[in-house]
Amino acid sequence: MPERTALVTGSSGFLGGHLVARLIADGVDVTGLDAAEPRSPRPAPEAGFRDLRIDVRDAAAVRVAMLETRPDVVYHLAAQASVSVSMREPLTDIETNVIGTVQLARAAIESGVRRFVFVSTGGALYGNPSVVPVTEEMHAAPASVYGASKLAAEQYLAVLFADTDVSLSVVRPGNIYGPAQDPHGEAGVVAIFSQRMLRGEPLTIFGDGSQQRDYVYVTDVVDACVQAGAGAAATCLLGTGAGTSTLTIFETLARLIGYTLPVRYAPDRPGDIQRIWLSAARAQQAWGWTPRVSLEAGMAETVAWFRAREAQG
Ligand SMILES: NC(=O)c1ccc[n+]([C@@H]2O[C@H](COP(=O)([O-])OP(=O)(O)OC[C@H]3O[C@@H](n4cnc5c(N)ncnc54)[C@H](O)[C@@H]3O)[C@@H](O)[C@H]2O)c1
Repeated sequence: MPERTALVTGSSGFLGGHLVARLIADGVDVTGLDAAEPRSPRPAPEAGFRDLRIDVRDAAAVRVAMLETRPDVVYHLAAQASVSVSMREPLTDIETNVIGTVQLARAAIESGVRRFVFVSTGGALYGNPSVVPVTEEMHAAPASVYGASKLAAEQYLAVLFADTDVSLSVVRPGNIYGPAQDPHGEAGVVAIFSQRMLRGEPLTIFGDGSQQRDYVYVTDVVDACVQAGAGAAATCLLGTGAGTSTLTIFETLARLIGYTLPVRYAPDRPGDIQRIWLSAARAQQAWGWTPRVSLEAGMAETVAWFRAREAQG
């Protein structure tokens, strides 16, 4: 499906910034939609980018934006993206991740959108799975409000788009990492560790460091999003098929950065998962997608980005 215009929600965020840059480079006319200002500078409007400050919980504003933009493809990334926050403030999470998504879907149907790409989660959808890697066929059983909201949103989208002209693709990524991830949040261990190590600050691991996640580099996830928008309509996990422990992340970054302070440990946080990694077999089959950036190379790129930013002050 040739794509000429796209609306990217969550455009001011980590993944959104990378996706917007890629779509513009591909010659797509992009409109960004986010409640917050971008954390890093965005392309000028003449580069084919319009940026809207809208909260997805504001149904009227979402509807007007969608009807004025009439994009071919919507990439819905805007989310309350923290597991910890979702456990502390479930209603905030549900308002953005479920109700906001439903409002966007209704506006998409009304404005003639052809493809809706929903960025869900792979890491938070299956709780603590007894079998790894997880596949799309396995029973989803989230252990956090965040995971439950993403699963509910997937299901509402499927119901709302049935018998309409909007086709739905869902991407379910593992733990995304890479340059420009927010190092101040509660998620994004590679970004948090990188910045703290480069500043010589102490760091804390929640749990004993043995918990394993599937870390997937941001440009690989962007590749999959582009395929999800242009290729077959499908629901696919995005992972490397391998788990990496938090301690391994710590040790690899410490080696790359030359960090020597001892790590501190704190109790596990509610909703955190002990062990998960994801099969990419269906993404390979549906979109020809396979992760291309190794963990070592991706972490080196991420450290280089944070190092350059620290040097700028
Ligand atoms: N980072 C990961 O490891 C990861 C893993 C799997 C899935 N995801 C999903 O990928 C997407 C992007 O995540 P990210 O890491 O870039 O997070 P992020 O926090 O950097 O970006 C999310 C963006 O959504 C915006 N937003 C939040 N609430 C909003 C609202 N009510 N209205 C409008 N905008 C709102 C924020 O301002 C932010 O710019 C999210 O849907 C997230 O759930 C992320």
